[in-house]
Amino acid sequence: MTFEGLDGSGKSTLASGLASELEKRGIPALLTREPGGTTLGQGIRSLLLDGVEMTPISELFLFLADRSEHMSQVIQPTLNAGVVVLCDRHADSTVVYQGYARGIDIQLLRDLNVIATLGVKPDVTFLLDMDVETALKRQLDANRLGSQTESFYQAVRAGFLAEADHEPERWRTLDASRSPEELLNQALEQLEHLRQRRAES
Ligand code: TYD
Repeated sequence: MTFEGLDGSGKSTLASGLASELEKRGIPALLTREPGGTTLGQGIRSLLLDGVEMTPISELFLFLADRSEHMSQVIQPTLNAGVVVLCDRHADSTVVYQGYARGIDIQLLRDLNVIATLGVKPDVTFLLDMDVETALKRQLDANRLGSQTESFYQAVRAGFLAEADHEPERWRTLDASRSPEELLNQALEQLEHLRQRRAES
């Protein structure tokens, strides 16, 4: 499962809360993130966040390289071992940030994501939706990628909502202005529904 949303939406808190809940229930789970879920990825993450100037296309290929490595070295083997993977940002961030917000062709990004992810898609993607003003206030880290204009983040928010509309089976949109406890309970409920639906089918 993956967690998406604006910077500052609280998705990392939800992802780690859910990972602990699953572990408590005896369900093995791995919490990971993009960019930065592998040794190569940590290097890529530093390049992306540390203020090195680069073109949007260079940036895109760095995110994809991070994802490709993460998928083949971590996510795929972990799923094959029967462990639930919780990934803080994944392929949808590329479609939304590099596509909706930076203007790279969305179909091209979808195709590149198929290569980087080996065609594996999350069973469920939680979108932590919140208004841009609040998200901006919550942003504590002003790294290179986390300091864009308000209109950039408006495009990001609209992009996530459009993607969630486009594939409602996979996305679960949560109101990120709720407390961390409420969000965790809502996400657990959603997972329980999914589990029941699967058991019935
Ligand atoms: P990070 O510090 O992980 O942000 P957050 O805590 O908000 O998740 O920084 C990741 C930044 O990279 C974030 O601004 C979103 C951006 N990003 C992309 O532009 N494309 C991508 O494919 C991914 C995975 C992230």
